[in-house]
Amino acid sequence: MLIHETIAGLRAARAKAGRVALVPTMGNLHDGHIALMTQARAHADQVIATIFVNRLQFRPGEDFEKYPRTFAADCARMEAAGVEHLFAPGESEMYPQPQTYHVEPPTEQAGILDGEFRPGHFRGVATVVMKLFQIAQADVALFGKKDYQQLMVIRHMVRDFNVPVEIVAGETVRAADGLALSSRNGYLSPAERAEAPRLYRLLTELAAEVRQGARNYGELEAKAMNILSMNGWAPDYVALRKKLDLQSPSAHDSDLVVLAAARLGSTRLIDNLEV
Ligand code: PAJ
Repeated sequence: MLIHETIAGLRAARAKAGRVALVPTMGNLHDGHIALMTQARAHADQVIATIFVNRLQFRPGEDFEKYPRTFAADCARMEAAGVEHLFAPGESEMYPQPQTYHVEPPTEQAGILDGEFRPGHFRGVATVVMKLFQIAQADVALFGKKDYQQLMVIRHMVRDFNVPVEIVAGETVRAADGLALSSRNGYLSPAERAEAPRLYRLLTELAAEVRQGARNYGELEAKAMNILSMNGWAPDYVALRKKLDLQSPSAHDSDLVVLAAARLGSTRLIDNLEV
């Protein structure tokens, strides 16, 4: 695997690489990231993975400083997964001067759900992903359904800006007990880690009720939030939404997804499940 710290270096490699698949990450790689890289193989001649902890998408007081940085272990995992190129720029390469132009996703996409609780988050994500698309000029880019709203925002951004990249979604990879893999799981204490799978269990139960015909979405959401609260969580939202645009469904809408975000201690976990 070749490691590129500069945009010029990556571009030179990209020019010789044929059809390219891009897998952007913030590092601290787990099986969810690696699954995207493995899946990327099937779409291209060469895979470019990126590691960049993007300051723009963190709010003041969030975990930018303490976000786990495990570069050597990440390189070993990518090497084993057969990734050809790693783009790992420093902050001064990506933001040589403060970013003055931003990609501003519309409020109806970026001001809801996670965007309501993390104002500006999706603007930071969209801006860095647009930069990565311009830098890597990939034919296809892979993103996980774990971050369902992020995937939706990126799909709409690519469509609205006519970016010539195909977006491919990867399924959420989970631990044996159902907890969605996340770099933030490492923040959990042993007791919190034991409690954490409840989030996925609740989503599974809620999705099953909807599949069996329940249409009292508000009640189902409130019940799930209540169960989380009673078990020591601080839920931000549990919400049934339309897959396509994450807007609220009416009773006759199908193609739904249930999404949730909740804090356990000081760790904020998100998860979702397609109904
Ligand atoms: P990060 O959280 O490192 O995730 C990188 C990619 O891995 C994203 O597409 C994410 O959805 C996917 N992913 C994370 N956990 C997963 C799991 N358990 N199963 C499947 N895929 C999973 O998302 C980001 O970084 C950043 O916002 C980024 C897009 C890189 C922009 O900075």
